[in-house]
Amino acid sequence: MEQEKVLVIDFGGQYNQLVARRVRECNVYCEIYSYRTALEQIKAMNPRGIILTGGPNSCYAENAPAYRKELFELGIPVLGLCYGAQLMMHILGGKVEQAPVQEYGKTEVALDGESALFAGVERRTICWMSHSDYISRTAPGFVITAHTTDCPVAAAEDKEKNLYAIQFHPEVLHTQEGTKMLYNFVRNICGCAGTWRMDSFVENSIAEIRSKIGSGRVLCALSGGVDSSVAAVMLAKAVGSQLTCVFVDHGLLRKNEGDEVEAVFGPQGPYQLHFVRVNAQERFYGKLSGVTEPEQKRKIIGEEFIRVFEEEAKKIGAVDFLVQGTIYPDVVESGLGGESAVIKSHHNVGGLPDCVDFREIIEPLRNLFKDEVRRAGLELGIPENLVYRQPFPGPGLGIRIIGEVTEEKVRIVQDADAIYREEIARAGLDRTIGQYFAALTNMRSVGVMGDERTYDYAVALRAVNTVDFMTAESAEIPWEVLQTVMSRIINEVRGVNRVMYDLTSKPPGTIEFE
Ligand code: XMP
Repeated sequence: MEQEKVLVIDFGGQYNQLVARRVRECNVYCEIYSYRTALEQIKAMNPRGIILTGGPNSCYAENAPAYRKELFELGIPVLGLCYGAQLMMHILGGKVEQAPVQEYGKTEVALDGESALFAGVERRTICWMSHSDYISRTAPGFVITAHTTDCPVAAAEDKEKNLYAIQFHPEVLHTQEGTKMLYNFVRNICGCAGTWRMDSFVENSIAEIRSKIGSGRVLCALSGGVDSSVAAVMLAKAVGSQLTCVFVDHGLLRKNEGDEVEAVFGPQGPYQLHFVRVNAQERFYGKLSGVTEPEQKRKIIGEEFIRVFEEEAKKIGAVDFLVQGTIYPDVVESGLGGESAVIKSHHNVGGLPDCVDFREIIEPLRNLFKDEVRRAGLELGIPENLVYRQPFPGPGLGIRIIGEVTEEKVRIVQDADAIYREEIARAGLDRTIGQYFAALTNMRSVGVMGDERTYDYAVALRAVNTVDFMTAESAEIPWEVLQTVMSRIINEVRGVNRVMYDLTSKPPGTIEFE
């Protein structure tokens, strides 16, 4: 049976992925496409509904992103958000102009009349506004269904044609009843049954992978991160012993991480796959000896990783398929899906395809958002500690040690980080903070321990909250927790006599500490 789906047409809005995620939370499958996608292609996908995103332009400006009028004549329900709403009005004969008063932030919206889009929503509700243009006159056939003090058309609709326009952003959590509105649209107005479920996705994917691979051989590079682990387990369940997983331990992993990965994927684990663990610590430390410049460290680690992998791949010989843990945000951000092409400077498996002799790439998680990958992981029975693992950079602790990387420094940062993670979990904060870790500054200073003068390193603790990892704020951790972490690190980790908490947001800082 064809998967019912809703399409998000992206006009360059910063919340494009959020819209798609919210729709999927209503158990409706959703994909993002650029506004440059041809109408015929959109039609061929047979969507149940279409959502037009916001965007930074003015729809009446020359060369502003637009769409063909026929989009609104397909008989498919369309919901325009912010720019999408303005564009709908503009194309269909309404008027959009610069607003006398710009609205930005949480705004009270008052509903007018009755609308299926707002079923169950309070008559006055808080919504997130962010616009400098506004709809000053609706297109023929539309009635106004909401307004604010400064915005006469906060929402309008042509019920007969199933066209809906809203000026605010229902996808943003600040819009208190936004999820309800999106649910009303996709489930009630578009009539989607809500069949997008992780258990059936996993089951179907395994069956599809199995039939695609047949008796072919498959190679997967395991990093120990969530994405490659979930991809590997999916493949293992599909083709078992035809799969070889190569796990390169570069000696820059978190404490015990190598053994944890081996426990799941190795010979003692539940899957009957070929697991190759390459203990390449010495090799990496050797290459990094004397190197202090952060970009150079990244380069060396990346290149060495490929060399090690290449050697292993040669031993394995030609394979039919190479597995990659690409996820949907990677697809969208690399410009294939939506409009906002962010050039990613770091890729977990960048470079690998070149050094492996293979026929085809398999990306089983290509259509999933991160939280969906985690749910798929749980569905597959992967241990929670692996599924909820934090993002960890490919170059590992190599970019959490300022200055030269040495075995001694790696040990310090691993031990300090393990204590930090243990205490954050004990305080029940491990699922609420976006990303947190210990780093080792290159600073040594004088301290006193017992009666002795010390001259030791300072550990920096980092914890940030972030929505998209492009911007971040330092997390507020209770003082007592920080105190406990500090005293445990000083007492238990040799070579450290100071602990600092990094308050810097991003920008101007980065999340990593390198
Ligand atoms: P920054 O430090 O750039 O980090 O603010 C943003 C997010 O990206 C992660 N990060 C990486 N991930 N390979 C990765 O797979 C890398 O080279 C890399 N560098 C940074 C970082 O942990 C954070 O989540």
